[in-house]
Amino acid sequence: MTNFGNYEERVKGFSWALSEQELGYQPGQIINIGWYCSDRICQLGKADKTALIWEGFTGEKKIFSYNDIRLYSNVFAQFLTDLGIKAGDRVCLFMDRVPELYIGFVGILKTGAIAQPLFSAFGEESLFIRLENAQTSAIFTQKKHVSKVRKIRERLPHLKHIIIVDYDGKTPLQAREVAFSMEGSKKVEHYDIYPTYAETPSVLHYTSGTTGMPKGVQHVHYSLISQYLTAKWVLDLKDDDIYWCTADPGWVTGTSYGIIAPFSLGITQCVLDSGFSAEAWYKFIEKNRVTVWYSAPTAIRSLMKAGDEIIKKFDLSSLRHLASVGEPLNPEAVNWSIRVFGKPFHDTYWQTETGCIVITNFPGMPVKPGSMGRPFPGITATVLNPNNYEPYPEPGRIGLIGLKPGWPSMMRTYWNNEEAYKNKFRNGWYLTGDRARIDKEGYFWFVGRDDDVINTAGHLVSPFEVESALLEHPSVAESAVVSKPDPINMEVVKAFVTLKPGFTPSKDLELDIMNFIRKKLSPLAMPQEIEFVDSLPKTRSGKIMRRILHAKEWGEEIGDTSTLEND
Ligand code: WTA
Repeated sequence: MTNFGNYEERVKGFSWALSEQELGYQPGQIINIGWYCSDRICQLGKADKTALIWEGFTGEKKIFSYNDIRLYSNVFAQFLTDLGIKAGDRVCLFMDRVPELYIGFVGILKTGAIAQPLFSAFGEESLFIRLENAQTSAIFTQKKHVSKVRKIRERLPHLKHIIIVDYDGKTPLQAREVAFSMEGSKKVEHYDIYPTYAETPSVLHYTSGTTGMPKGVQHVHYSLISQYLTAKWVLDLKDDDIYWCTADPGWVTGTSYGIIAPFSLGITQCVLDSGFSAEAWYKFIEKNRVTVWYSAPTAIRSLMKAGDEIIKKFDLSSLRHLASVGEPLNPEAVNWSIRVFGKPFHDTYWQTETGCIVITNFPGMPVKPGSMGRPFPGITATVLNPNNYEPYPEPGRIGLIGLKPGWPSMMRTYWNNEEAYKNKFRNGWYLTGDRARIDKEGYFWFVGRDDDVINTAGHLVSPFEVESALLEHPSVAESAVVSKPDPINMEVVKAFVTLKPGFTPSKDLELDIMNFIRKKLSPLAMPQEIEFVDSLPKTRSGKIMRRILHAKEWGEEIGDTSTLEND
């Protein structure tokens, strides 16, 4: 029996009140995600249950019970309170996938502050942009990453506290730095959790758009209501499961379904803090007897590439339910997983902005390989005509994926950018920025993005951000960044560059530009190739037309070029 049961029955008369009741939440009362992820589970009699099985890249292992999560998150919360952090302040987590990241997140939420997780591989400039935009007050980081913070702290007057979670006393602490040891601190049995309500801000996740710098997607504590229920129904999490979400909490999957969902459901989850290797991943599943596995298409394609032979070396029979998110899940990957694991990966579709899964293949429902599945009950999803933003009356038409606003975990705004937020709505629909079609049975089929954002290995890259970094190099006159096809990552970043007078294209110059921008960008946003060109295609008004370059890379029709200045 799946948690979900029958689609039609679940949709009929659905109300989010069902989730509120399961969580024992009454509208108007206090709701704090930090409390729900730790104290409540202990109150339900699961204090000794394992919450987190953690394995580091050296093979080191740590296990935390729900009572540990409760006590250590209190340690975090008390520490922040003693530092003077107040409700509403932004507190950044800039760490690898160490236990402090997961437990610190819970602790920050207990103080009423807003958690701002950022991917630890970000270069200093990517970090700076996001900390400056959020006016972040404090940052938790590790020794190995603190040098990046040191380089930018002078430009960040609001950043009062740089907290190092693994300080070893070997080199002196510098300005604003403070040492903190989660396990070395005295356990805090009682912490007065800040009374957050449904609409109190909780998490700020930065995401890339087509124009402008990355935007801070702001969520609230009420998001729990849909994160809890979607995890229960879509990931089919049950009390005796061992769950593995492979996503880094620098991205929304790693928080919504890597922290909030499993902890609020009182599930045992495991975390592997190391890079990808097929062998290491299969071994991890075997060792921990993983039952529910939530991963991403690029990882699945990489596993496919590693071949079927290697799978035979491991006992993966514990796997019960598989799901995927972040990019189109190609039918070959679904068919491959049926062949080698005996079950399909279930595609799930959502965004940083939606906070929870909105369209999905439900456990127990027939999977159509290549389709994203059907809308979650309580989510009204449609395909809109791009000319008038009306839903297409008939199936099969390609249009914009639109969602009716109002589900609990929908973003509340873009941080300090209400205008960009308002711009996401048309005719009463929230525009996802993606295109799809719906078939006769109501299944959604992803077609592509409706903007220039590049989705490389599931990570959104703004061409604008890469172009801005390129333009800072002394040789670069103009730049245009598009995607090009890639067998594993689906898309990778490619840059076209024109040079200033006095510079000539060469391999050395390409290398020099690459090294220059590497410091500014996340490794994932790095171009795989820079092509030097004499000019870039432009509209008559001088706007660079990425569309033309994109079409060439993908071998597509170029379309209407009547507004081109040169071609
Ligand atoms: C894309 C990740 C195809 C899409 C949770 C979306 C997908 C963006 C799928 C959000 C899927 C996500 N099939 N494309 N199943 N899931 N996407 O904000 O373009 O990092 O708008 O959130 O990823 O990426 P984000």
